Amino acid sequence: MKSKSENFPVITIDGPAGSGKGTITERIASNLGWEILDSGALYRLVGLAAIREGVDFNDEIRLARIAETLDVSFVPNGDGVDVFLKGDNVSDLIRNEECGSCASKVAAINGVRNALLARQRKFSGPDGLVADGRDMGTVIFPEAKVKVYLTASAKIRAERRLNQLKNQGVNANLASLIEDIEERDKRDTTRKVAPLIPAADAIIIDTGKSSIDEVVSQIMKLVEKVYKY
Ligand code: DC
Repeated sequence: MKSKSENFPVITIDGPAGSGKGTITERIASNLGWEILDSGALYRLVGLAAIREGVDFNDEIRLARIAETLDVSFVPNGDGVDVFLKGDNVSDLIRNEECGSCASKVAAINGVRNALLARQRKFSGPDGLVADGRDMGTVIFPEAKVKVYLTASAKIRAERRLNQLKNQGVNANLASLIEDIEERDKRDTTRKVAPLIPAADAIIIDTGKSSIDEVVSQIMKLVEKVYKY
């Protein structure tokens, strides 16, 4: 199946957890007035649905079935997007560590990835799409004209997560966050299907070495050049 990016502007932003994809994606999409695809949310939703339905994380057939029949909606709320699973607002719930870790497990299953592929390619906006994930530039939108791969050390990414959790009033420990991040990176980069790697034509940006504003401006310059904005 062809992806819609052949005739529709798509910017792909891939990278590991905590590399700043979410923030940078929001800034770029808001600058351009384009829609966002938060592909990680789909994997988190499959993980959450599996927990709720009591499905074993080794049962690949049932997990793929959950992904195929996922009853999900993304509803703009003026300030962002609310995520609903079977009509239940799970926007905050899917962000917790447990859903993140379950997401990473279900994301290694071929049947789950295949089931989510068409769903992701259907995302669009009136003008363009900024797609945030792990395989946006390699698998989902290989024809995208602007591909970005964000990276940063595990320690920097864990420190960002620690601050996020502190702001939510949640206690966490840096060493265990670094361990979680490294474990998740290992699973995401070594899985057989759609492993986390930069697309050959992606620009790689270390977000530990530049400010958010600098990264956004670097990407916007590229977008202006490619799309003549
Ligand atoms: O971006 P995130 O932390 O919300 O993603 C959660 C998990 O989902 C992550 O560990 C890997 C997986 N994922 C993926 O395999 N492919 C994507 N395009 C997005 C996320």
